[in-house]
Amino acid sequence: MFIKKELKDNLCIIRVDREEALNAMNPTVLHELYDNISSSINDKNIGAIIITGSGEKAFIAGADIKLMEKLDKKGGREFGALGQKVTNLIEESSKPVIAAINGFALGGGCEIALACHLRFASKNAKFGQPEVKLGLIPGWGGTQRLPKIVGKGNAIELIIGGHIIDSNEALRIGLVNKVFEQDKLLDESISFAKIIGANGPFAVSQSLKCINDSSNYSLIEGLKKEVEQFSDLFGSQETNEGLKAFVEKRKANFRQ
Ligand code: CAA
Repeated sequence: MFIKKELKDNLCIIRVDREEALNAMNPTVLHELYDNISSSINDKNIGAIIITGSGEKAFIAGADIKLMEKLDKKGGREFGALGQKVTNLIEESSKPVIAAINGFALGGGCEIALACHLRFASKNAKFGQPEVKLGLIPGWGGTQRLPKIVGKGNAIELIIGGHIIDSNEALRIGLVNKVFEQDKLLDESISFAKIIGANGPFAVSQSLKCINDSSNYSLIEGLKKEVEQFSDLFGSQETNEGLKAFVEKRKANFRQ
């Protein structure tokens, strides 16, 4: 078992637990991660998911290089597709997914973080897409998601430079949302997940969907989808409660 799953109130903390290899991911780890995320998304008692790594050194140090050394083209395609299946599941999750990046987030580890909706990092975290140093390119979504998050210029610099950056630089270029002391990272991630958890759950998931879908639509199409989604919410129990609570000068209770 390479994944530890912990429930805290209505949050699920999923920990990649392969500390001896800095949480590097082979197919078994990827399958286990997929299954745990998938079951958390489908669990109606879970409102948000936090992904982190075991130990104090690494979030995920990437795809397993020792395994990749033995792959041929077919194996490479299967391994890439499996990693993309996991990153797509994370990005398309209807529940918010926060990466609590507690150390090295390199290669596939950075790509797992990029697929998450929010990235919180500890001060000691390090980021990079060092694939070119191995004669590879990012294969789990890095060439597609990184430019959307940090801009094309910063993404090109990171991907073809292959160098590692620290959490301050990651914050400066917008790769992470916030940086915390290492011993505060998980608590701060949990606090933020609770803030999200108090908001309208359907409004949160529909916001994520509209933002994700914006990559697939022109501005005009995206705006059309947004207004459809916006208007669909009126009359729903959740929206009625949110609007009524404001008018009645009380806090909305979306979980009644
Ligand atoms: N795959 C397999 N094993 C890994 C690993 C990886 N990605 N990263 C670290 N390990 C293993 C090391 O081999 C070592 O195990 P052994 O002692 O049994 O050999 C153990 O983890 C500890 O690592 P180090 O001794 O290297 O620790 P360090 O503190 O000296 O260095 C590090 C840390 C800079 C992260 C270094 O381990 C490193 O460079 N790792 C590789 C990072 C990398 O290139 N990741 C990208 C992989 S390619 C990819 O992910 C493709 C993709 O897009 C999907």
